[in-house]
Amino acid sequence: MARILVVDDEPHVLGAFQDLLEGGGHDVVTSEEATSALGALEEGPFDLVVMDVCLQGMDGLEALRRIKQQWPSLPVIVMTAHGTMQTAIEATKLGAFDYHLKPFDPAEMLAAIDKALEGSRLTQNQVVRAPEMPDAIASHSLIGNSSQMQQVFMSIGRVAATNATVLIRGESGTGKERVARAVHQHSQRAARPLWIVNCVAIPDTLLESELFGYERGAFTGATSQKIGKFEQADGGTLLLDEIGDISLGIQAKILRVLQERCFERLGGNKTVHVDVRVLAATNRNLEEAIVKGAFREDLYHRLNVVTISIPPLRERPDDIPALVEYFLSRYAKELGTPKPPVSPEARKKLQEYPWPGNVRQLAHCIQRALIFTRGYPIQATDISLTGTAGDHTGSRTCPEGLGELVRRYLIDCGGEHAHEQLLGHVERLLIVEALHRTSGNQTHAARLLGLARPTLHAKIQKHNLDSGSSETTAPG
Ligand SMILES: Nc1ncnc2c1ncn2[C@@H]1O[C@H](COP(=O)(O)OP(=O)(O)OP(=O)(O)O)[C@@H](O)[C@H]1O
Ligand SMILES: [Mg+2]
Repeated sequence: MARILVVDDEPHVLGAFQDLLEGGGHDVVTSEEATSALGALEEGPFDLVVMDVCLQGMDGLEALRRIKQQWPSLPVIVMTAHGTMQTAIEATKLGAFDYHLKPFDPAEMLAAIDKALEGSRLTQNQVVRAPEMPDAIASHSLIGNSSQMQQVFMSIGRVAATNATVLIRGESGTGKERVARAVHQHSQRAARPLWIVNCVAIPDTLLESELFGYERGAFTGATSQKIGKFEQADGGTLLLDEIGDISLGIQAKILRVLQERCFERLGGNKTVHVDVRVLAATNRNLEEAIVKGAFREDLYHRLNVVTISIPPLRERPDDIPALVEYFLSRYAKELGTPKPPVSPEARKKLQEYPWPGNVRQLAHCIQRALIFTRGYPIQATDISLTGTAGDHTGSRTCPEGLGELVRRYLIDCGGEHAHEQLLGHVERLLIVEALHRTSGNQTHAARLLGLARPTLHAKIQKHNLDSGSSETTAPG
């Protein structure tokens, strides 16, 4: 005896199935349309679904797709009164077990049902749900259809559940920080914050106290105790960004934390024990640095338990169209303009460019085009690719894209909102840069910008920069 769900919008067909199947000792549930059928499946479990794909409301093929997505091994027999090749192919592709044209011979239908039930008995756990991994990762907005990015996603899935140290490698702008966030967000530590220390932006002595903290009186100016990032991240995750740039002295200290899970605050002799998962990111060739004596080999091996390498964008051009769509939607929303169409020539230009600054450069390029087209279609001439490989690395001295923005504004300052938009954008770039230089310390950033702290805070909120700085306390 099996439990069978029959879906058809004609009551007499449902009646006929009921007679046919209940006569054979089966338990039959009927439904006249797709939504209630999916509801019935939720309450499940069922051994088999027999459904017409020409239903009212939700398309039967769409319902089939959802059924196979959620219950991949539940067999579905599809029937239709209007058999087009298209529907048959689609239904099979979507995973229909069998396909029948109406009117059908009851004996043949029974035989098909028996065969399907036999198969599902062999696979036994017919109501197991598909894992929700791919969607969950997509919601953290790592875009990528290319096989290379699919590999990256799979690696994230594999390491996320572990406590392993992960070394994330890739050229500047390839998405190393995003990958780190995804690893954290899919780990058991997700409820705790991810802390990020940008090792390159901080002078050595500062970096040391940033990581390990200090005791009161450790040096002139240490008027109170400071808790370092390793301690703050206890129970959570710490991303050591740009790890390839740190000095040998600090490397030794980090090595000790990785080996012994403990350290002392500067100027202190009490040993602090911590439970921190360490992620490290770099765009440097660490192997070369080892040969040159600039990077400790033992630390390299400690960090390199698992490596996730993100290929440069030019090696995965398949990802460009989806990234373009993503950034168009995102920045159009931010600017409050409708998402504009993009001409085929402009798309071609985006597709063929080698993107030395990788995804970050593409993002800025789209953002710039949107600011200057203000909702009008984006043409090839609106895509400015003046950036060279140096353009994005230069971002540490001049806010990225600022020079280009001003240049474009001077050439093309029409439109009553252009001025306002430019100023807003410049303000945003300056704040991002100030936060970047001060590792997200709002007090220091405010001083750098000559603003009162509350003013800066309000502007950070206005520009939605809350968690976007180089150092963040935001969980995940
Ligand atoms: N696959 C992706 N999907 C969506 N956005 C992405 C993706 N990869 C990168 N980005 C975006 O590109 C920008 C750069 O990414 P990220 O900061 O993670 O790069 P990075 O490798 O850490 O660069 P750097 O070495 O310069 O620090 C960010 O705005 C990020 O959101
Ligand atoms: Mg980074």
